[in-house]
Amino acid sequence: MHCIQNTNMARVAVENLTKIFKGAKGESIPAVSNLNLVVEDKEFLVLVGPSGCGKTTTLRLIAGLEEVTSGTISIDGRVINSVLPKDRDIAMVFQNHALYPHMTTYENMTFGLEVRKLPKQEIDQRVRDAAEMLGLIECLDRKPEALSGGQRQRVALGRAIVRKPKVFLFDEPLSNLDAPMRLQMRKDLRKLHAQLGCTMIYVTHDQTEAMSLGDRIAVMNSGTLQQVAAPNQVYHHPANMFVAKFIGSPPMNFFEGTIEQSNGGISFTASQAFTVGLEKSIAARLTEYSGKKIILGLRPEHIMDSAHSPSSPAEWNVEATVEFIEPIGAETHLHLSSGEHSFIARVQATDTYTQQQKLSLVFDMRQPHFFDPKTEQAIA
Ligand SMILES: Nc1ncnc2c1ncn2[C@@H]1O[C@H](COP(=O)(O)OP(=O)(O)OP(=O)(O)O)[C@@H](O)[C@H]1O
Ligand SMILES: [Mg+2]
Repeated sequence: MHCIQNTNMARVAVENLTKIFKGAKGESIPAVSNLNLVVEDKEFLVLVGPSGCGKTTTLRLIAGLEEVTSGTISIDGRVINSVLPKDRDIAMVFQNHALYPHMTTYENMTFGLEVRKLPKQEIDQRVRDAAEMLGLIECLDRKPEALSGGQRQRVALGRAIVRKPKVFLFDEPLSNLDAPMRLQMRKDLRKLHAQLGCTMIYVTHDQTEAMSLGDRIAVMNSGTLQQVAAPNQVYHHPANMFVAKFIGSPPMNFFEGTIEQSNGGISFTASQAFTVGLEKSIAARLTEYSGKKIILGLRPEHIMDSAHSPSSPAEWNVEATVEFIEPIGAETHLHLSSGEHSFIARVQATDTYTQQQKLSLVFDMRQPHFFDPKTEQAIA
């Protein structure tokens, strides 16, 4: 077994965490607002959200690089607000991983440890274990200039690993890498997490990365937590319209309309466009919205060319116009319109379409999402 493996417990709890920066003119810049989040011991939690939503600030608060405005941060029940960053036992890997250019890989990795006065043999063992894990054995004597971007990124990881921290914090560590390297590093990170058995908090603005890496995903927007759940839960049961739109590509389609009673059944009518029937069990959840405005959300994969769904109920048919055709290889994204509504369907790449073509679609109404137009929250 690797001596680098982590035996520490580390459950990170953030309670009512708020950070307000002061701007140049003394104005308040709220970066994180009342954040409540528990990262379980050995969990890989991904913090995801658009630029400026407070991800880096959250990590820096946990690492102790920013002072909290209010709220508490604790590890295993011990509040660490006033513990110095160096005593928090947390390692942070940044996007621009700033290796020392005049030091070899080996020296870059040992640097932090020598400062801590660990025995030489222990240091050597930790570095060799980490280098082996990260495929860096051959690079130990090279300086950063003689390493590829991916190798440099791994050295930065190695530097964090050899510290054997209780908690790893990653701030978009892969964003400087090209797509194939990112994919490889994602796999390596998951493996590393399994090998090290430690708590990791990983920040990204890339929802695909979040989905593929996280045990759970915490979605943030404008400094506030929107939802925290397993990737599939977030995708299939988004808590609100922001999450529904942010997670998934192309994003979920939204249609504003009303719920109405029609010939014995209940249906959704998109304003001045189309009507689709609702399943009884789904309609039962929406009774209080009867006659009121509501938003239907439907993922692009749940809108099909009717040619491929001949047996679906006629009340799920929608006529639309093809506005734009986006072939992406494995599938095609059809940009469509119906009345004032624009939406996207994922269709088979083998089918051919022409712009302005009228197309008969099937909305898979076993998979709808409904949202309250005022609160934008999902209707359970
Ligand atoms: N030192 C600072 N002083 C003032 N405002 C700041 C400071 N650091 C961050 N902010 C503001 O706080 C908000 C959150 O910033 P933060 O860096 O946490 O976002 P982020 O989610 O990491 O974004 P990105 O994906 O672009 O890295 C932003 O509005 C930002 O402008
Ligand atoms: Mg950031």
